[in-house]
Amino acid sequence: MKKSSRWLIGTAFFVFIATTLLLGPGFAADAPTGVTNIFRPLSIPAQAIREVSLLVLAICAGIFLVVGGLLAYTVVRFRQRPGDDGREPPQIYGSNQLEFAWTVIPIVTVFVLFLATARTIYDVQGAIPPADALNVTVVGHQWWWEIRYPELGIVTANEMHVPVSESSKRRPTFLKLESADVAHSFWVPQLAGKTDVIPNRENRMWIEPLQPGTYVGNCAEYCGMQHAHMLLRVIVHPAEDFEKWAMAQRQPPVDDPQARAGRDLFFSTSCINCHTVRGTQAAGTFGPDLTHLMSRETLGAGTVPNTAEKLRAWVRDPQTIKEGCNMPDMQLTDTQLNQIVAYLLTLK
Ligand code: CUA
Repeated sequence: MKKSSRWLIGTAFFVFIATTLLLGPGFAADAPTGVTNIFRPLSIPAQAIREVSLLVLAICAGIFLVVGGLLAYTVVRFRQRPGDDGREPPQIYGSNQLEFAWTVIPIVTVFVLFLATARTIYDVQGAIPPADALNVTVVGHQWWWEIRYPELGIVTANEMHVPVSESSKRRPTFLKLESADVAHSFWVPQLAGKTDVIPNRENRMWIEPLQPGTYVGNCAEYCGMQHAHMLLRVIVHPAEDFEKWAMAQRQPPVDDPQARAGRDLFFSTSCINCHTVRGTQAAGTFGPDLTHLMSRETLGAGTVPNTAEKLRAWVRDPQTIKEGCNMPDMQLTDTQLNQIVAYLLTLK
């Protein structure tokens, strides 16, 4: 292959990759719900991060065009031609202006990037929670998220409900991140950058969503077999709806006499060693709190939708749905299974 065509293919490939990376995410669907698009932030810290990354991308694109353009020009203009005499071109050493230029311009560029990045880091990490900020503690587990609202007395899992922030009334949510076992990483791309969730350490971050909707996220640090099934939803409500949700979650669990058999069975099995149903003898903390299980959209941290049928399959043998998860096959008979599922279905 001739040198110039090899060069052409190489450049075409590079340009293809660069444009795919730069423009690709821009073509994703633009509904706020269910899209994990870092280029379409809908929360204040995520917007600050996007701004600084666009600046970095723009500067790097400029450098790429100048360097690539000069290189392309040189390669084409001074390529070997038939009839060249084969002698080396004149060798020129030393040019103060040139050396000065290619020293100073990169220093200035790096300095600008440094200042812009440092400012964004300062703005995002140095934010002080306002008095009416919502405080949420998120605990990463293999492989689900425990979500606690210490001031509201609510504990839930995998689905974090927060109020929307409006210009008339800002309602950011400040998160304390902890891990019960290994390192995880909390990431909801449209709401904020990712933050590691480390055992024996408290990391902090915040989100300030500007539009109601459901934002999907996931664990972003490999944490074992079911890392890919450690999904997360942030459900952003208008202020009144958030209050309604919080009110409903604070209610004690439903005690439906119809589901007594299942309830009694549930309390007599080892279910209660791992799960909590608030106000009962079920006070385990290894697994998700079940007080309002049926208010959640998914089972197994986003693995399957939370329907009666999937719940039954899950209780029968979670290992068929989420292999390796800490909940074993409880070896229930069909009658026991039906009773327990009937009870769980009342936990709205
Ligand atoms: Cu938790 Cu990956």
